[in-house]
Amino acid sequence: MIKRFPWGKPIETEAVIRREAVVLMEGLLQVPFFSKVCPGDGKASVLTYDMGEHDRIYGLGENIRGINKRGWLYVSDCVDDPIHTEARHNLYASHNFFLIDGRERFGVFVDAPQKVAFDLGYTDRDRITVTVDEGGFDLYILEGDNLRQMVREFRQVIGRSYIPPKWGFGYGQSRWGYKNEEDIRQVVQKHRDAGVPLDSVYMDIDYMERFKDFTVDEGKFPNFPRFVEEMKAQNIHLVPIIDAGVKIEEGYPVYDEGVERGYFCKKEDGKEFVGGVWPGRVHFPDMLNDDARRWFGRKYKFLLDQGIDGFWNDMNEPALFYGEDYLQEVFDKLEEYRKKELDLHAFFGMKNLVLGLSNRKEDYESFYHEYKGQRVRHDKVHNLYGYYMTRSAGEAFDELEPDKRVLMFSRASYVGMHRYGGVWTGDNSSWWSHILMNLQMLPGLNMCGFLYTGADLGGFGCDTTEDLLLRWLQLGIFTPLMRNHSAMGTREQEFYRFGHVEDFRNIIGLRYALLPYLYSEFMKAAAGDDMMFLPLAFVYPCDEEAVLSEDQLMVGSGMMIAPVYRQNARGRYVYLPEDMKLYRFRSCADADTEVLKAGHHFVRAELNEVLVFIRPDHVIPLSFGGRCVADVDMSKLRLMHFVRDEAVYELYDDDGYAKKIDVEAGITKVRVTADGQVTAEGPLKAEWTLL
Ligand code: GLC
Repeated sequence: MIKRFPWGKPIETEAVIRREAVVLMEGLLQVPFFSKVCPGDGKASVLTYDMGEHDRIYGLGENIRGINKRGWLYVSDCVDDPIHTEARHNLYASHNFFLIDGRERFGVFVDAPQKVAFDLGYTDRDRITVTVDEGGFDLYILEGDNLRQMVREFRQVIGRSYIPPKWGFGYGQSRWGYKNEEDIRQVVQKHRDAGVPLDSVYMDIDYMERFKDFTVDEGKFPNFPRFVEEMKAQNIHLVPIIDAGVKIEEGYPVYDEGVERGYFCKKEDGKEFVGGVWPGRVHFPDMLNDDARRWFGRKYKFLLDQGIDGFWNDMNEPALFYGEDYLQEVFDKLEEYRKKELDLHAFFGMKNLVLGLSNRKEDYESFYHEYKGQRVRHDKVHNLYGYYMTRSAGEAFDELEPDKRVLMFSRASYVGMHRYGGVWTGDNSSWWSHILMNLQMLPGLNMCGFLYTGADLGGFGCDTTEDLLLRWLQLGIFTPLMRNHSAMGTREQEFYRFGHVEDFRNIIGLRYALLPYLYSEFMKAAAGDDMMFLPLAFVYPCDEEAVLSEDQLMVGSGMMIAPVYRQNARGRYVYLPEDMKLYRFRSCADADTEVLKAGHHFVRAELNEVLVFIRPDHVIPLSFGGRCVADVDMSKLRLMHFVRDEAVYELYDDDGYAKKIDVEAGITKVRVTADGQVTAEGPLKAEWTLL
């Protein structure tokens, strides 16, 4: 049961779209669980809860630290910051939903588009303190006794998760730095020549004409539609980036129209706010304004018309290198420093002046939105900007491509955006710790509706190494979005920069073998408002060791993964809550198997080996792989199996494009008995073999 406790005048975020399924309560004073509800001093509202000693906390979507979030201060305040260390409090997203499990079990969703701080045992290790910045909010409380079921209930009221086209489950190669057709052709050629599967190449900001949205640089791409065709003929989808800021340049239609129609965010004095991002000075479209949002969304047509069928939305926190007004102040102050003795105070004063230019609170407080007929200051709705940018695209796609799914994922997000696109987890680094962080983020993201998600495999910032990339790919083959992406200036990290081509071919190839299962589990999770990546705690709540597990995950109904994420490791400790069958894959055609008893094991996994564990009485369908998603032959399937009595797998499949989804009709029931008999019932006609 979900109850809503409105406080003050909440700003409608449209995160919850099935209000009728929620019980409306009078106000905060009735809130259960929170032993102290203190509306604060008119500035911030504060809620506190005293935890039991071993209470655990799950959720909060994209955030650093463990699967159990207890013990840190997490802040919802979408920010562009590429240094994702343990010391951070906020990243690109605002996902204010979490579950508490222990002495009591309940869920909390703080629907507030302003800044919210979740002190989960940081100040006082036994206390939760939620502080919502000035302004109203809706507090939702969920009660139930099954964590997974509580997530489903929450997901039902926030609406169905975004579903990408099936090719979006293929491997994507990206790098900030591919300049022109030739660079992209080379990437594709190298993959095809080496037999390493590939479905997409991402186009970062360099494809644009001077970083202007909805332009293509003709010097680099002389005939873009023809190039898109050429790539399509090889089953490659090009995926261009779109940034939030629109370059200020007379004669550039997006800028001219935006100004003429008043669609950019304005300051108090009615003039457009000027910020700085990649193109230099920009205006920010008012994504919260219905007309402006519709206008911006229709702009994607420019690229759709040229054959593009996927996008990634970036810099939509919105990232701000500088606000123009403050920049001028800084320039003036720097002039003063010229005359000064740069001693300790003066030198650091000057340095901090420049370092403090980006993403400034005061800049975010200096412009406004027209939202639902009201003028709203940006900081009051800051966390909605990326959500509404992606919504603008999603709504436009429904008009422009009513029958076909378009790939879309975003950097910034808020709960609600999960209906319009997925997320990638931003500018991580080529650090071993970030493989684990990637794994630990997945269940929280799923809880908040973000099923289509993945990290920059190999790491975005810093220099990667071959072993790091291989180990990261061994996790990445399970994430719906599987993309290798890196920053300009870092070591190049396409597979062909390294020596052991065969290892990459085998690991990436295994993804394509797993595709029938991953796609099926994803689609069932989306349709059933369920999670695809589950903490062991959600499946084995009575097993303390499982509950404490922080580096293993359940993937869908029948599989557990335990990737290696340490340098030079040749295996790892794995905890099995029940007997499981291990498949140790060296390629999609080569695996050894072993039944392991419940308990702790040291499991060997060399750099070219992927560990997959199957639960008892489960089977997992596998294809024979392919060069791209379209190549995967669904008429010849194998089954990983651990059948003691009988196993039934419900395999969902469809054409990979249609927006209308009928899960029941798309399911084939595959039954395997202990003596190895396979029977299948449903639309998929396949030859089955046991692996
Ligand atoms: C941002 C994005 C990154 C991209 C870069 C250049 O840092 O997060 O993925 O490569 O901008 O567009």
